[in-house]
Amino acid sequence: MADGSTNPLAAEARAVAHESAHKHVAGTAEFIDDMPEPAGTLHAAFGLSAIASGTITALDLSAVAAAPGVVGIVTAADIPGRNDMSASGSGDDPLLSTGEIRYCGQPVFAVLATDRDAARRAARCARITYDETLPVVDVAAARAAGRGPSFPPLTLARGSVEDGLAAAPLTIAGRIAIGGQEHFYLEGQVALAVPGEDGEVLLYSATQHPSEVQEAVAHILGVAAHAVRVHVRRMGGGFGGKETQPTIFAALAAVAARKFRRPVKIRPDRDDDMTITGKRHDFVVDYALGFHEDGRIEAVDAVFAARCGHSEDLSRGVTDRALMHADNAYFYPHVRLRTEPLRTDTVSNTAFRGYGGPQGVVAAERMIEEIAYALGRDPLDIRKANFYAAPDRNETPYHQDVHDNIMLRIVEELEASSHYRARRAAILAENARSPVVKRGIGLVPVKYGISFSKKAMNQGGALLAVYRDGSVHLNHGGTEMGQGLNTKVAQVVADELGIALARIRLTATATDKVPNASPTAGSVGADLNAMAAQDAARTLKARLAAFAAERAGVAEDAVVFEHEAVRIGAERIGWAELVGEAYMARVPLSATGFYRTPGLSWDRKAGRGSPYFYFTYGAACAEVAVDTLTGEYAVERVDVLQDVGRSLNPAIDRGQIEGGFIQGMGWLTTEELWWDGKGRLRTHAPSTYKIPLASDRPRVFEVRLAAWSENMAPTVGRSKAVGEPPVMLAVSVLEALGMAVASTADYRLPPRLDPPATPERVLAAIERLRRDVDFAGVLL
Ligand code: MTE
Ligand code: MOS
Repeated sequence: MADGSTNPLAAEARAVAHESAHKHVAGTAEFIDDMPEPAGTLHAAFGLSAIASGTITALDLSAVAAAPGVVGIVTAADIPGRNDMSASGSGDDPLLSTGEIRYCGQPVFAVLATDRDAARRAARCARITYDETLPVVDVAAARAAGRGPSFPPLTLARGSVEDGLAAAPLTIAGRIAIGGQEHFYLEGQVALAVPGEDGEVLLYSATQHPSEVQEAVAHILGVAAHAVRVHVRRMGGGFGGKETQPTIFAALAAVAARKFRRPVKIRPDRDDDMTITGKRHDFVVDYALGFHEDGRIEAVDAVFAARCGHSEDLSRGVTDRALMHADNAYFYPHVRLRTEPLRTDTVSNTAFRGYGGPQGVVAAERMIEEIAYALGRDPLDIRKANFYAAPDRNETPYHQDVHDNIMLRIVEELEASSHYRARRAAILAENARSPVVKRGIGLVPVKYGISFSKKAMNQGGALLAVYRDGSVHLNHGGTEMGQGLNTKVAQVVADELGIALARIRLTATATDKVPNASPTAGSVGADLNAMAAQDAARTLKARLAAFAAERAGVAEDAVVFEHEAVRIGAERIGWAELVGEAYMARVPLSATGFYRTPGLSWDRKAGRGSPYFYFTYGAACAEVAVDTLTGEYAVERVDVLQDVGRSLNPAIDRGQIEGGFIQGMGWLTTEELWWDGKGRLRTHAPSTYKIPLASDRPRVFEVRLAAWSENMAPTVGRSKAVGEPPVMLAVSVLEALGMAVASTADYRLPPRLDPPATPERVLAAIERLRRDVDFAGVLL
């Protein structure tokens, strides 16, 4: 094979289009809101709290009930089971308020009407009076109020950070505030509940985690899990925002469907969606850093404070992952990292592509930048001086060895292909001449750990059915949200059975097809579910081989599966023919498959273990141009080299890298969440919250896969996860913006540009540097 693989399909052949690509473009892909509504469907809308903290003293819903089209109302009193949808099982996440208000926009009740518009209008008619208290909105306020964590923080430590800092010839202390992010999936949250007999409910839920919706709805209805079925064909994007958040909508629909014995659908409009649901955690990181004149780090001491919102949700996993990526690609001889998760009177923050990892990487790269500016060196040299290296500079702060390290090769290849050094020299020269427009360039590596730290979650399941005509029906526990998981899983099964991809059909992920599935998250969708599907395919193949051998009276190893056909000794018969004969001989033609990731360990209390099956490696080089009079900027060029192991589908992987990069770029540049002093989110629509536009994309965007890479861990086809890591590549844009800013002070001061680096912030940073340099000049 040209790509050196033993896979029968060459890389180009594997680059098939996403199974729904044509339907996405043609508008024929069915999302939940496109499904024909069952007769009698009611539409629900939430009534939201107008304050962030306090208690409800009176709830007058008479005008809501009297509004046109209204059929009824649901309050907490209508919940038959437990009024809790907490993912962590901590019991701290009510579906509807019982009087206590925890954030502005918290659902208090829901109204059911004959159409969606009527429900939305009616919801506004509520008269709610409150006893309002002063909300604790951000990290600083939560600290001041002593809002300690609702769960134990994590500490990672190795060596002696005190000794390391004392011994280091140079030290720096600083702080970086890192903004949150709204998911802004194109398809908003949506659920449709159809009541059935004997207390059953069938839920169509746009969820990355159907099994969690099933479990939570069962608790909330007070029924067994087998009474709740959850189906999802696809989502129009999830990005972590549909890992726990869909329960809010699915559970409300289920409770209302039970109460009114009619199908119930809820699809909040964008403002309500953005107000009700959790986002990426914003962090404040305080760091102290000891290093040597050659740029080598000696010690790092850092505290990662995070705004978790009113409940635990996934904050433990998110803040833990931030800490476990605060090393990025660098060895810290002495290190102490601590999380400080803080409870605030704001929406409960949740998973978002990278799960805290991106915040950790941003902090790590800020520390590199500090060293580079302090020493007047190219940040890339500082990076290289600190890379993990076997044998004695290879242990992470959580005591796992970086066993599959290819960081240096990735970075050096990108450094060469992007002409980083020459371009940096040219930019330095040009900046010296150019009075207004200043350029910056940054080359940033990203190492990302793959596996869920909760060991039980590292499992996948699949169900395969072969019909008499040779067509194959495939289900697995993962969900399709645009990332191409179904395509990859189908490709693996087609490869395994030696049949055409067109023979395979994947239908909705369903809790009644594959039970107890993990969320499609942590980028491991294909790692887990393609392996499980391959396992099911192998079971079927073994049965067919045994049947074929017996039928022809040959040994089983004389049966060879070729493309669309099977060779049995000297004979060769078509796939469908073999399947038809196997049916007649009463060979079972359906099979389940299962996979569990081997060899993981993690002791959270000790902050020690080998939680990651493997790491992915990537690097990006970004160049920007900044107008220093206005703070406006453009991303001129981006070069990416990403390790995806041996790609299952290079076309899909490239799409993931491009999309992930742009999403990360939005997070670090223009996407700014803003709560006012009363805890009201004021950026709750595209009018006030700016995601990247097509015109914001890099003018030149070169994305390459490291074709030589192959996963050293035995994953499916030796591939690697790709979904989340590319988000962090966008840190290169932040670094390049910082360089352009620093040029206005002749690079003598660190730019300390905190993300999101909106044009206002860029301008403010330029003015601050100019002031500081003048001040320093006067002092000299
Ligand atoms: N790509 C698209 N198009 N839409 C999405 O919602 N979610 C991302 C990533 N890529 C997402 C996406 C996130 S947060 C994760 S964890 C992975 O896809 C999940 O899918 P995978 O495990 O199959 O890669
Ligand atoms: Mo992705 S944040 O793990 O859903």
